Amino acid sequence: MQVDIGSSATLREAREPPARAVRKPVVRVEGVTKHYRMGSELVVALNAVNLVIEEGVFLAIAGPSGSGKSTLLNLIGCIDTPSGGRLFLDGENVAARTPDQLAVLRARAIGFVFQTFNLFPVLTAAENVEYPLLKWRISRADRRKRVDKYLALVGLAKFASHRPGELSGGQRQRVAIARALVIHPRIVLADEPTANLDHKTGQKILRLMRKINRATGTTFVFSTHDQKVLDMADRRVDLEDGEIVRLGARIDGEWRFAAERDKP
Ligand SMILES: Nc1ncnc2c1ncn2[C@@H]1O[C@H](COP(=O)(O)OP(=O)(O)O)[C@@H](O)[C@H]1O
Ligand SMILES: [Mg+2]
Repeated sequence: MQVDIGSSATLREAREPPARAVRKPVVRVEGVTKHYRMGSELVVALNAVNLVIEEGVFLAIAGPSGSGKSTLLNLIGCIDTPSGGRLFLDGENVAARTPDQLAVLRARAIGFVFQTFNLFPVLTAAENVEYPLLKWRISRADRRKRVDKYLALVGLAKFASHRPGELSGGQRQRVAIARALVIHPRIVLADEPTANLDHKTGQKILRLMRKINRATGTTFVFSTHDQKVLDMADRRVDLEDGEIVRLGARIDGEWRFAAERDKP
């Protein structure tokens, strides 16, 4: 089964923004399987998943707890490696890379946003955002410029010197978004970014991510099991028991679904 978002006529007709022309794939997942060994038991977290993620999409990975959302995001984010299959980032098979190579790739190309924010409590908001750039060969002045730019983008310019403990949950997640963006990633991956926020704050965070997606063309993939959060996406991939069960595009505010194409 080949899953290609935007491949069916219905999906291609989508005119919801961002209505960019032909998009190239950032991520290509081919027959990816992930097994975990639990004692004598083999847990199949993902089973032969095929997926193409095109540049600039605002894509949700939906599914109940245990369906494989985090596993899929961790594989795309090169935090983990597949048990089988191939995974391409910008056309390069990353499944074959060593852990050291993957670490470099992650630091350069992937922005992560976590459910629990994962900020350093002793660092200020600005220092947290600056952190991924510390190993880069850029001047301190340029680093600061970037940090200021992204803190301003998430509406936190005035909170640059606050530590996470002095910020609300929503503000912490905005720092995390700025930290993800500061490296100019190819893709931002957010694993249940609203799960620790109240509903209203969660919606604000999603709206902010969508605004950044529209304004910068940055590709966003986030996971959720919350229908209201899901409804803010333009595209969705539904997972069940480690398999993709359907693909959707939101057209005129309504979800349209394309079944997976059958195996040739
Ligand atoms: N490190 C692990 N060791 C063993 N089983 C795991 C591990 N991570 C995930 N799993 C299992 O893989 C399946 C998918 O998990 P996960 O990707 O975390 O789902 P989700 O994020 O949708 O809740 C679940 O059955 C889970 O128990
Ligand atoms: Mg999860």
